[in-house]
Amino acid sequence: MKQNTPSATALLIAKSQLLLADDALFAGIVDRTRANFYRRFVEAAIGTPWHLTLVNRYWLKFIQRISLPGLYLHYALRKRCIEQVTREFLEAAQIQQVVGIASGFDPLLAMLCEHFKKVEFFELDHPATQQAKRAVLQNINNLTLLPIDLTNQSVFDVLHGTAFSPEKPTLFIAEGITMYLDEQEIRRFFGHIQSCTVADNCYFLFTYMNKQSSGSIQFESATKWVEWWLWLKKEVFKWGIATEDLPDFLSAMGYRFVRVFDADSLTKEYLASQGGKNRILARGENICLAQRFCGSF
Ligand SMILES: C[S@@+](CC[C@H](N)C(=O)[O-])C[C@H]1O[C@@H](n2cnc3c(N)ncnc32)[C@H](O)[C@@H]1O
Repeated sequence: MKQNTPSATALLIAKSQLLLADDALFAGIVDRTRANFYRRFVEAAIGTPWHLTLVNRYWLKFIQRISLPGLYLHYALRKRCIEQVTREFLEAAQIQQVVGIASGFDPLLAMLCEHFKKVEFFELDHPATQQAKRAVLQNINNLTLLPIDLTNQSVFDVLHGTAFSPEKPTLFIAEGITMYLDEQEIRRFFGHIQSCTVADNCYFLFTYMNKQSSGSIQFESATKWVEWWLWLKKEVFKWGIATEDLPDFLSAMGYRFVRVFDADSLTKEYLASQGGKNRILARGENICLAQRFCGSF
C-alpha cells in the first residue's frame, strides 16, 4: 500500500458495505451498528462527510461490475463468518484476548469490546490506515490500537510491553492481509504470531487466496481491471495457497488445521436460509481457522 495514505482497498471495502447496508436485497447481512461505524471511519479517512449519493452508488456498482461481480457480498459474508466464529469463542469464554491484524475499517473489535468488557482487544494496522480509526475510537479501556508495518515489524515486537499477556488464551484475526505479503514475509508473520503466546487454546483465524491449479492467486473470474487497480494502488497480491496444502503448511508453522470456510459454506450458512443462494458471490478467498500447537514449538 502507499505509505502515507490509508489503504485504498480498506476504504473500498468499507464503502461497499455501506452500499449493501442500504440495499433491501441484502437486509440483515450488514447490520446498522456496523454501517454506522463504517460511515464514521470512512469520513475520518477522507476528512469530509460521505453519503451514498447517486454518483457514489453508481460508481461503486460500476467498479464491481467491471472488476468482480459478487465481490461486495463476499466481503460481507467473510465478515459475518469472522464475527460469528469470534463471538462463539467469546461467548464460550474460550478466549480472553483478541488481536486483529490489518483490520482496516472493519468495526468488529470496536463492536465487541463494548459487550465483552473483561476481554482485552488489540488492533494492529498500518499507521496510515489506523490514523482514521484512532480519530474515531478514543478512550476505550479494553481496546488498544497499535501501529505496525508488517514488512519490517513483527506482531510479537509490537505487542510486547503492552497489556497483551502471552499466558492468556487468545484469538488472532488476520482478514484480507496475507495476500499482500511475500513468501518470506508470510513465514515470518505466521512464526511471529505463533511465538506471541504460550497459553493453550490460542487460535488464528485468517483469510487466504486459494491458489488455483493454474498458479493464479487472484479471485476466480476477476477481470484484468482488478490487477491493474491493485497495481495502481500498490496493493498487488503476492501470496496464496491451495486449500489442500494448508494442513502441511500450518503444521510446519506450529499450528493445527481446524477448518476452512469457502464460498460454498458461506452461501449455505448465510444465504440459503434467506432465499439468496442464487446470488452471485465472488470466489477465491477463503477463511481458515487454525489452532496453535500447545507448548513450545
Ligand atoms: C484489504 S485491506 C483489509 C482491511 C480489513 N481487514 C477488511 O477486511 O476490511 C488491507 C489491510 O492491510 C493493511 N496493510 C497493508 N499493508 C500493510 C503493512 N505492510 N503493514 C501493516 N498493515 C498493512 C492495510 O492498512 C489494510 O488495513
